[in-house]
Amino acid sequence: MNIAVIGTGYVGLVSGTCFAELGHNVICIDNNEKKIGMLKAGEMPIYEPGLKELVEDNVNRSRLSFSTNLREAIDSCEVLFVAVNTPPLPDGSADLCYVEAVSREIAENIKDYRLVVSKSTVPVETGMWIRKTMKKYSREGVDYDVASNPEFLREGKAVYDFLNPDRVVLGVETERAKKTMLELYAPLSEKTEILVTNIESSELIKHASNSFLALKISYINAVANICEKTSADIKEVARGMGLDKRIGESFLEAGAGFGGSCFPKDLSAFIKISEKLGYDFKLLKEVKRINAAQKELIIRKTKDALWNLRGKKIGVLGLSFKPETDDMRNAPSIDIIKKIHEEGALVKAYDPQAMENAKKLLPAGVKFCDGPYETAKDSDLLIALTDWEEFKRLDMSRIKSLLVNPATLVDGRNMFDPCSIKKEGINYFGIGRCV
Ligand code: NAD
Ligand code: UGA
Repeated sequence: MNIAVIGTGYVGLVSGTCFAELGHNVICIDNNEKKIGMLKAGEMPIYEPGLKELVEDNVNRSRLSFSTNLREAIDSCEVLFVAVNTPPLPDGSADLCYVEAVSREIAENIKDYRLVVSKSTVPVETGMWIRKTMKKYSREGVDYDVASNPEFLREGKAVYDFLNPDRVVLGVETERAKKTMLELYAPLSEKTEILVTNIESSELIKHASNSFLALKISYINAVANICEKTSADIKEVARGMGLDKRIGESFLEAGAGFGGSCFPKDLSAFIKISEKLGYDFKLLKEVKRINAAQKELIIRKTKDALWNLRGKKIGVLGLSFKPETDDMRNAPSIDIIKKIHEEGALVKAYDPQAMENAKKLLPAGVKFCDGPYETAKDSDLLIALTDWEEFKRLDMSRIKSLLVNPATLVDGRNMFDPCSIKKEGINYFGIGRCV
């Protein structure tokens, strides 16, 4: 099948490449010329494990190409995926201008039947607006369908998630659209549940799923706060809860809270669309509040250990919002570093992939280091904020010898074993850990 993916960001590039891997002919479109130029030159605009190899392979097989020319793609492709960004507006609602702009450009240029599929995460009833936009700007008599196909991939595991999804959700309103979408996903249908719904349910499944996962994280962080006041250990509590299959063990890791380009924005957008529809989603407002409090907790633990922050050297291990990505969008490290820097601390930081992106977002005074040991050297305290595998293998006795006495570690992701850290003579502060 010939398909175009419009918006070649994290989702568009991964989806387009994986559709090509499934045997389709794909053109990835973006209006960012630099990005398309890089991709044409074989360079990756993002770091995502396994993606570069898959892109190269599918380009070599002539199944994947990149372009800034949307009109040509509209002419040659029957299915047009909209995978542009839907960032938050100042009031928290989703900015759908990019979705509208692409829908309009499609409408103004289609000559024959086209299926327009929203892959961007959008509030319920966006499909209705895309349909209205198509009607308003397309020429009389031209045929089209609108569909919704939300994406559930995680950054850092994006290729695997796309090719091995827990489910594929297809929101459609005609038999023709349903048939086309099922054909498109046929290579996955043997191992994956494909759920066909109406467009509104499909849109809502995405917002409700992301918000539920965020709720699970805030719930475990709230429980961790109770652990802090007792002798309970959050790791044991989470394990004990997760063994109940109805609860499940994933997304029960307490820590510095969730960040990223999606949970914070999708929670806010879900709260806003609910409000617009007449429902005050107080539960989700509390999820946000608990998440913000986790960042405060890291700062409080740092102050409890160091007293005043002015003039103190603080090393930060990990900047990206999660491991295996260079994505800094809404990373908890941003607010935490800004605050400790504001209070006069001298911040040294290291991340295996995200430092280039971090430099644009963190205060000018932050010193970026070559590795974890340089970060620890002469620091009064070390804060771990992203659970990169390489941090879990650090030589902690070397870390101890590099830190200023008394060596202190605030483990914002509960990634170290408190007992072994303490054995090395390092003061350890985790989140809800019993030590
Ligand atoms: P992104 O910012 O990385 O990429 C969006 C791309 O769209 C950019 O390259 C931008 O230049 C391009 N674009 C914007 N307007 C355009 C236009 N008019 N014509 C052509 N290109 C245009 O965003 P992303 O992280 O890929 O997210 C895209 C959507 O997918 C969002 O709605 C997001 O919520 C959703 N989503 C993201 C993830 C994720 O892990 N990042 C996962 C699931 C869903
Ligand atoms: C999330 C969802 O997991 C994807 O299904 C969804 O497609 C995507 O959002 C999206 O819509 O963009 P992602 O943001 O890439 O994916 O990363 P997650 O692995 O979900 O982690 C999000 C944040 O939660 C990270 O900051 C992570 O550190 C934090 N987290 C995660 C916890 O604090 N505790 C946990 O137990 C799990």
